[in-house]
Amino acid sequence: TPEGTTTVFGQSYPRDDYTNCTPSILDKMDRQLHLNPAHPLGILKHLIFDQFPGYAQLDTLSPVVSTQANFDSLLIPADHPSRSKHDAYYLNRTTMLRSHTSAHQVEVMRQAQHKAFLVAADVYRRDEIDASHYPVFHQMEAVRLVSPQDIKAGTIEREIDRMKGRIQEVGVISTDDSLLDQQVQHSTALQPEHDPRTVALVTEHIKTSLNYWVAGIFGRIQHLQPAMESKSSKLPVRWIEGSFPFTTPSWEMEVMFQGNWLELCGCGIMKQQLLRDAGLDDHIGWAAGFGLERLAMVLFDIPDIRLFWSQDPRFHSQFQPGQITRFVPFSKYPPCLKDVSFWLPTETSFHENDFMDVVRDVAQDLVEDVKLVDRFVHPKTQRTSLCYRIVYRSMDRSFTNDEINLVQEKLRQEVTQRLGVSLR
Ligand code: PHE
Repeated sequence: TPEGTTTVFGQSYPRDDYTNCTPSILDKMDRQLHLNPAHPLGILKHLIFDQFPGYAQLDTLSPVVSTQANFDSLLIPADHPSRSKHDAYYLNRTTMLRSHTSAHQVEVMRQAQHKAFLVAADVYRRDEIDASHYPVFHQMEAVRLVSPQDIKAGTIEREIDRMKGRIQEVGVISTDDSLLDQQVQHSTALQPEHDPRTVALVTEHIKTSLNYWVAGIFGRIQHLQPAMESKSSKLPVRWIEGSFPFTTPSWEMEVMFQGNWLELCGCGIMKQQLLRDAGLDDHIGWAAGFGLERLAMVLFDIPDIRLFWSQDPRFHSQFQPGQITRFVPFSKYPPCLKDVSFWLPTETSFHENDFMDVVRDVAQDLVEDVKLVDRFVHPKTQRTSLCYRIVYRSMDRSFTNDEINLVQEKLRQEVTQRLGVSLR
């Protein structure tokens, strides 16, 4: 019901001034694309799971989490931008749709006492509208804890050697280690409770584990990538110094693919506070998180992120479990461009992501792209006017002008009602 509560998976959540989940978002929650073994996201999930033998696989954790799990448990400060209600979807002040799979790190360690696990899940973020952004996407988290006995017994070194041997056999990766080594020695990033030699070993383990899965995935598509077979035949990997509230030191892993550096993954040594909170303080851990859509789009050659949500058999019939194949687009339908212009009530009461959510609610997946094309301040009244250009284009059918005019008319009504703007 609009007033009192929002019901999700049969549970009711009281609404308050933070509530901002729209019906079109709530409708997506039961799709669970990553659980379909013949969907590109499910295929990719399985292939990545296979690259982490012995890790527990968790892919059915509920997307409804507490703000404590999503933020506080990860030491994300109270004023961090990711907490803003303009960036995250809230059921109310204390309950939200997870904005990343890291939300489960502490809970899984504490409750299951897993020392090695993977989480694959749908995550929710308010964002702009274009071919690579969608308010629901999928992430995978990898967490590995190392005990003092693991170190004493040489388990970690043996694992590293085994993975390195396999990476060499596949022969896809070329990585420049000098950057990484410099950063580990960079003492400010080290946590006071950690022995630098242990950190160096665990860092080697992160780096090798991530190289290993990337080699495993990209090794499969070598035959699809003539550029990789030619002269260098290697996939360059680089590590950029990163920053996350719950890891230090931290890195971002990038691979050079089809001429671009593709940001694959954020990772780092877990802050020891997380392990203390999970009752595993005698361990040291690393965590890594990566988005599945961007990678699936390059591997399967999928040009628009909305296609993942399509129910069209012409999309689904192209994919089989366990296989990365290139998507053959069905014909591209013509776009229809419409502008909407309005005066803002006041400068500060308007947030672009509120507008994006109204567009998503009204136009659903008929909208391909939304851009601000003009901004204008009236010299006398000082009021601000914005003009947005909306590109309507269906992924799977053609539509009539009348149909789009109706959608646009509905959009004009809804923006006035929901955002308090005045149309021009
Ligand atoms: N959760 C982070 C994100 O969504 C990624 C991350 C995971 C970084 C684990 C470090 C360790 O951006």
